[in-house]
Amino acid sequence: MHEIIRRAFEGPTIFRDESKLFPDYIPFYLPHREAQLQSLARYFRVILDKPGSVSQKVIITGPVGTGKTVVSKRFGLEVEKYAADKNLKLRYVHVNCHRDRTLFLVMRRIAEVLSCPIPSRGLSSQEIMHLLRDILEHEDMYLLIALDEVDYLVRTAGGDVLYDLIRITEDEVDMKCRFNYILIMRDLSIIPALDRSITSALMHNIIRFSPYTSGQIMDILRDRVNEAFEPGVVGHETLKLISDITGFDTGGPGDARYALELLWRAGRYAEQEGYSRVMPDHVRKAKRDIHPSLRTEVIDSLAVHEKLLLLAIVRSLRKSGRAYISLGMAEREYKLVCEEWNERPRRHTQVWEYVQSMKRSGILMTRISGPGYRGKTTLISLPDVPTEIMERYLIESLRRLKS
Ligand SMILES: Nc1ncnc2c1ncn2[C@@H]1O[C@H](COP(=O)(O)OP(=O)(O)O)[C@@H](O)[C@H]1O
Ligand SMILES: [Mg+2]
Repeated sequence: MHEIIRRAFEGPTIFRDESKLFPDYIPFYLPHREAQLQSLARYFRVILDKPGSVSQKVIITGPVGTGKTVVSKRFGLEVEKYAADKNLKLRYVHVNCHRDRTLFLVMRRIAEVLSCPIPSRGLSSQEIMHLLRDILEHEDMYLLIALDEVDYLVRTAGGDVLYDLIRITEDEVDMKCRFNYILIMRDLSIIPALDRSITSALMHNIIRFSPYTSGQIMDILRDRVNEAFEPGVVGHETLKLISDITGFDTGGPGDARYALELLWRAGRYAEQEGYSRVMPDHVRKAKRDIHPSLRTEVIDSLAVHEKLLLLAIVRSLRKSGRAYISLGMAEREYKLVCEEWNERPRRHTQVWEYVQSMKRSGILMTRISGPGYRGKTTLISLPDVPTEIMERYLIESLRRLKS
């Protein structure tokens, strides 16, 4: 047999289970988030003690990578289990508002969890909600709905969406309260856009998540290393470097997702290079590939043509060396990129829509041209991530999609 292939098949691997480092894994223990889990349990105790008496709502807020999503999901799993032991039918529904960005899509996600197929046409959100409520009544069931990245939903669809959602789940008198909510947001800036009737109750139920310190990240990584790698593969020095790069008190963003991604990529480099241990230099290499502001899950969730357009924008910015490029320039490059990836370019209006949507996600920044440009044109820039890192990640993401 071919020696290189044989060695790759049979040689030692350093990972025991890589997937334990991926963002969608929900670990059992969540170090340094015990207080937040306890708060959640205290707020929602009432729906276990007196089901149907109130519709409880809690806000979770904190910067990226502070564990908001994972804490909410872990709580959801636990509360479902606990309720089942008490013969109470309580279901947890996690809605990612980045993906489900309208009231209709949010409801469809909820319906999916209830295994209630709803037609994609013909029903208003109100009608769907009544349908869902009938099922809940019939089955004597309760829901805990986590609206993750709800800032995004409110910014794209307006503050009324939340009001509509919460109102139609509450409007009938004499009915049991079957809908409860966790609203997950990065900061509280959307609050003024919401209706007073929602916020007055909510302002007392806020759970805050602070950026992690380097010591806290160290604890989080240690747990994961044991699950993801073979024993002895990742040493203290390597972990220390990652925690110091990412810890808030050591000048980093305090973002656990960034730390885990560095660890995973460093492991990949070590494996590729045939090392049996992950060295600090592998971390340094990994750091070149990603950036704390590069929100890989947001990039991954873009449509193919959004990715192609973003790649074109990034390339034009890099080639021109300018802070901003015009939409026209981006579109010309986009046609070339489409050719390269064998895709037929989308029309101008669609391209414009993509730019708006990526702007709302915080990936792009735009302004209208001033002096020095003919007429008024949209100028586009990349606010956070260096073009080189963004370009490399986009190509990686597109390749993954194509293969
Ligand atoms: N306390 C913790 N213990 C273990 N893993 C954590 C903890 N906090 C965050 N993580 C992990 O870090 C990553 C980012 O967390 P996430 O919940 O997605 O952050 P957020 O939603 O605040 O952006 C996920 O992979 C998550 O599993
Ligand atoms: Mg999250």
